[in-house]
Amino acid sequence: MTQRITVIRGDGIGPEIMKSTLRVLDTLDAGLEYDFQLAGVAAQEETGELLPQATLDSITENRIALKAPLTTPVGGGFKSLNVALRKHFDLFANVRPAISFKGTKSRYENIDLITVRENTEGAYLGEGAWTAPDGSRAESKMVVTRAGCERVVRFAFDLARRVGRKKVTAVHKANILKDVTGMFLNVARDVAEEYPDIEFNDLIVDNACMQLVMRPEQFDVIVTTNLFGDIISDLCAGLVGGLGLAPGANIGKDVAMFEAVHGSAPDIAGKGIANPCALLLAAAQMLDHLDQSDKAQRLRQAIAEVIAEGDRTTPDLGGSGNTEQFTDAICERLV
Ligand code: NAI
Ligand code: MG
Repeated sequence: MTQRITVIRGDGIGPEIMKSTLRVLDTLDAGLEYDFQLAGVAAQEETGELLPQATLDSITENRIALKAPLTTPVGGGFKSLNVALRKHFDLFANVRPAISFKGTKSRYENIDLITVRENTEGAYLGEGAWTAPDGSRAESKMVVTRAGCERVVRFAFDLARRVGRKKVTAVHKANILKDVTGMFLNVARDVAEEYPDIEFNDLIVDNACMQLVMRPEQFDVIVTTNLFGDIISDLCAGLVGGLGLAPGANIGKDVAMFEAVHGSAPDIAGKGIANPCALLLAAAQMLDHLDQSDKAQRLRQAIAEVIAEGDRTTPDLGGSGNTEQFTDAICERLV
């Protein structure tokens, strides 16, 4: 059976890494049909809109989207398109695995953790955001709901069970932000009782950051609120060799959207040297989601082997290859 997915090629390095990713998916024979849609600056140039209705309709219909990075124009009051997409489709759980690959410049070798970031509430809602006309004061509100906390914590525990993880750590700042992240912590403690097979602990966010750098191997699944999750997942990407290796899945009740964590990298766009791995690893998450975990595993294995070998990787990983040679090397291992 063919599965139709919405594909957004994106801006900057987006089209380069998407080309590589689709080639790999075709080599894997993943049975996907691509419904190409526009978003970001590419969409604005062609349709006058950053997020055309046709793109939203396509995602609603296909329920699965693979998305390359989008450039959010600076100034002019543009809201982040990613935040807009997550909000529109209520993609409440952002799943960001950080896994060590042998052959990177990372200080660590055996990191294997997943951050589950709440994606629709908290500090990124933009509620009550306000700057005084004279520029002397600015405000924004942080809002969480019990239901919003509960669904993401439950998602993290269910994920842990499904993929055989042993421990969930809730990260918060309940000692200071007592109401907002205190609610998150209380809900996490309540939900944890329903999962006696999964170990549970909690850490205050600043301590969690230090622990992640000192002893990352103690972590398995981390669940946290929107702002902390944004920061912690980049920290984790740094632990395993940088943004070029960091994928993310945005999961909602009806729709799931898979993407690289990094942006459109305008500084290297058009040079053909972008690392395609973050989007490739996001494609692997998508294959897991589509019950094609055997292919997802083959893909991860091929990426790991090519990185370990080293000579055909992109410059950000210390290699002397380009996007195409990196992709060739991965495809060779998949046929
Ligand atoms: P960025 O992630 O695009 O780049 C940061 C640094 O990492 C740059 O030096 C870049 O060359 C490097 N880098 C990123 N991805 C790479 C890859 N695959 N291979 C090799 N090097 C890579 O972040 P920046 O510069 O802050 O943002 C650029 C644009 O991207 C902005 O318009 C921003 O709004 C947008 N953005 C979009 C995101 C998305 O669509 N998910 C996420 C983050 C930023
Ligand atoms: Mg971020």
